[in-house]
Amino acid sequence: MQAKPAVVRYPEADSTNSLALELGRQGAPHGTVVVAARQTGGRGRAGRGFVSPPGGLYMSVILRPDLALGYLRLVTLAAGVACSVVLEKHGISPLLKWPNDLYCGRKKLGGILTETAPWSAAQAGVPFVVVGIGLNVNSLPADFPPPLPDLVTSLSEITHRRHDLDLLRREIVRQLDYLVSGLEHNTEALFSLWRQRDFLLGRNISWQDENGLVVHGTGAGLLPDGSYRLRTPEGLIHPILAGVLKVHPGRLTG
Ligand code: BTN
Repeated sequence: MQAKPAVVRYPEADSTNSLALELGRQGAPHGTVVVAARQTGGRGRAGRGFVSPPGGLYMSVILRPDLALGYLRLVTLAAGVACSVVLEKHGISPLLKWPNDLYCGRKKLGGILTETAPWSAAQAGVPFVVVGIGLNVNSLPADFPPPLPDLVTSLSEITHRRHDLDLLRREIVRQLDYLVSGLEHNTEALFSLWRQRDFLLGRNISWQDENGLVVHGTGAGLLPDGSYRLRTPEGLIHPILAGVLKVHPGRLTG
């Protein structure tokens, strides 16, 4: 990463990912970060929103890695590992719900939304990637609208103290850059770090495909291409490439 990539700060933004996508289109360099103190239209995976009250860390990092499209999924995994590794130094041990929500206990601590500029097959690779990271840091569950107070947690709630958002941002960006730069040659090392933090492993889960078909089974770990394995009670394996995995009470194995 360049010596001093820009950090573009906003007291409030619709979505830092939307702003970063626009900056990326305008040619902003690798390592540029857009950060907002709160978001009014935070976006999550699968077209969902991401409620972003003050106190959270909301940032989008523009990366220009020399990567083929197939590696995009691994960038998302790297971002989850980067957040976990850094948060572990600040007193908590989040697990990663494929593809990249962060959970502490049964509550959501944050999420990651990786997006790229429209890509054409004529191009050799992805022009740039925006890695959007939202973490509940100094916010508290009561800052969220119902039913979220029962479903989310925050770094402050768990550690009973406030945390430096700038420090966390710098550490996560550094760790993300390190992991993404080693993606092609060090994929196994990344997978190993991810697997040590697999929230779904052995849990009772379900997955809904694009046609609405629901498949129930057990979380059975990451596959070598970065997709996730669901094992049905009959022993069939479904590789999950997209969509949303739901966790249900109880544990089928492990
Ligand atoms: C998810 O939970 O599905 C992913 C949430 C990603 C939220 C972050 S917050 C910073 C960036 N800006 C957005 O609009 N989304 C991401």
